[in-house]
Amino acid sequence: MKTSSIESILSSDFLVSASLRPMTDKDLERVYRWRTDPRTLKRANDPSDFSFEEHLGWWENTPKLLKLVFEYGGKPAGVILYDNETRYWGFYLNPKNSSRKGLGRIMLSLFMPIAKSLKIKTIKATVKLDNYASRALHEILGFRTIHFSTFALEYQKEL
Ligand SMILES: CC(C)(COP(=O)(O)OP(=O)(O)OC[C@H]1O[C@@H](n2cnc3c(N)ncnc32)[C@H](O)[C@@H]1OP(=O)(O)O)[C@@H](O)C(=O)NCCC(=O)NCCS
Repeated sequence: MKTSSIESILSSDFLVSASLRPMTDKDLERVYRWRTDPRTLKRANDPSDFSFEEHLGWWENTPKLLKLVFEYGGKPAGVILYDNETRYWGFYLNPKNSSRKGLGRIMLSLFMPIAKSLKIKTIKATVKLDNYASRALHEILGFRTIHFSTFALEYQKEL
């Protein structure tokens, strides 16, 4: 291999590690910052801001909600939540990484084999009509549109 090819691999994202791990209480502050950033709130189904105390209440009162942190290049970069009762998922990236395209696709793709190993059979999502990145991701991942209204689409995927 030519030196220039090695250099281009080393300077690209080719060798960057990406993984999902359980969220812990050490993530609480960063996840709060990401979730209440105006760029995330704008896309959320409930766009209301909330306090850190309310966030702690959510953390303590939702032990059964699957909460995973996406790590990219060894740094926390996003969150995926899955509710095993309603079958809905939700996710968001650190909005400060928003210029780095492709992270959403990597994060959600990592979830699929984990979901299978957890015997998750169905994943549902509500996506606002103007959330084009999320719509594109659901379609790339093979979700079906099961309902649409004037403001949102409902997606579903059977695993
Ligand atoms: C949704 C989110 C996770 C997507 O992550 P991302 O890293 O921006 O997405 P990606 O760069 O992986 O792009 C996903 C796909 O959407 C496409 N896309 C992005 N913006 C688009 C747009 N405005 N129109 C059409 N397609 C678009 C990309 O081209 C890409 O498809 P490709 O891989 O075939 O090129 C991220 O934007 C986010 O955290 N948003 C705020 C929270 C949120 O919306 N959560 C989901 C609620 S349902």
